[in-house]
Amino acid sequence: MDKFVISGWDQLNGKVRIHGAKNSALPLLAASILAEEKVVIRDVPNLRDVRAMVKIITELGGTVIRSSEGMQINTVHLNSGTIPKKLMQEMRSSIVICGSIINKIGWVKVSPPGGCAIGNRPIDLHLKGFKKLGCEIFEKNDEILIKAPKHGLKGAKIELDYPSVGATENVMMAAAQAKGTTEIYNPAKEPEIQDLANFINALGGNVKGAGTEKITIEGKQSMQGTDYRIIPDRIVAGTYMLAGAITRSEITLTNVVPEHIRGLANLLEQCGVQVIFGEKNVTISAKNRNIVSPKHVTTQPYPGFPTDMQPQLLAFSCFTEGTSFITEKIFDGRFNHVPELRKLGAKIEVKKQTAKVTGVSVLSGTVVEATDLRAGAALVLAALGAEGVTVIENIDHIERGHESFDEDLKSLGANILRIPKNQITHLSNENAY
Ligand code: EPZ
Repeated sequence: MDKFVISGWDQLNGKVRIHGAKNSALPLLAASILAEEKVVIRDVPNLRDVRAMVKIITELGGTVIRSSEGMQINTVHLNSGTIPKKLMQEMRSSIVICGSIINKIGWVKVSPPGGCAIGNRPIDLHLKGFKKLGCEIFEKNDEILIKAPKHGLKGAKIELDYPSVGATENVMMAAAQAKGTTEIYNPAKEPEIQDLANFINALGGNVKGAGTEKITIEGKQSMQGTDYRIIPDRIVAGTYMLAGAITRSEITLTNVVPEHIRGLANLLEQCGVQVIFGEKNVTISAKNRNIVSPKHVTTQPYPGFPTDMQPQLLAFSCFTEGTSFITEKIFDGRFNHVPELRKLGAKIEVKKQTAKVTGVSVLSGTVVEATDLRAGAALVLAALGAEGVTVIENIDHIERGHESFDEDLKSLGANILRIPKNQITHLSNENAY
């Protein structure tokens, strides 16, 4: 895999446009299968996970064309419900395609999905939801066959034991064309759920209550095409906000939805960072400011603090004055960045699901490894604030979620280079490659 070589301690300055949200693009691509006409989705980021979803759709008989006008998806001729194991393992979101395929083909055959190594990631809630809608489920070795009843799915009342993002999305897509009404209680409320509801409605569906305690879906038998722009990526926006805060810089992010990043903005303000919102942009300034620790932060389902920002916040905490306690409540294995941050000189102790971070005056560059997407993003942030040169290996993980991360950071003035996998890297502050 390629590497990033980052020479830290430079202040950043300038503007970055935030690309479309990966975690909206993936379910929306899956939901486009519900349409009986061509669908156009705009601002789909060019990321590894998106390419994996496109491979699945084309493998099943659909066509996907990317142009300057957006992504055109045509699944009118989709003719298979078997997703090859190799494609299932490329990412976790391969599972969210099931709901729409069941409607189109009547069945779907999958194997357990892959994805970032951040802990246990079962799919029991997805399967329970499909059963409630009338599906039969057959599990044999590594294969799961989900079959719709002969006369199609039937609306139902579904109470999720946990507000799982993926399970809510899968049930919404399955229920969108079921007969009658489906009510989802305790659904996920993330902005990406609201984006999916808006998209299904743009196809001619009828979804109400996304973002609240209950989602109601009236099944519609047939759906048309649409031309739809996805929401900006709030996690990418938050990552840049923390990059600005760590490097004590002033930067502006355009194409943001202020409401989606308000929680992080409030937290940063409490730490001493200035945050100024425009209608669709945000400027953060940490220049010449004394930045204190975020104290106690616990990850929670939306609108709580997002687990996808936890590694980056932890990296930020290393550069603040005081002690922070960061508790991870969503995934049971999401502290892979901690040993890597320690290599840079960070003072972090982990007890069960809480990391105690003591701010240090300086981190020093060395060789570290990105173990998953957000852990890798956290290392990039730490490297930007560290003294000397940091080499980050295995950056493919980071590219699951950040399009042109290095180019955008460069445009802000960061000293970052991408080194192809076979090129030998010598670590020295004078010449990093
Ligand atoms: C989505 O994953 C996101 N991925 C994740 O983003 C994000 O971390 C996560 O939601 C939480 O916000 C996409 O949207 C593509 P969940 P998902 O189902 O849907 C448990 C990133 O970095 N659970 O809400 O897989 C599960 O084990 C990524 O961009 C069950 O027990 O998350 C976990 O503890 C990584 N049974 C919790 O729920 C189930 O059937 C949350 O998972 C499903 C989930």
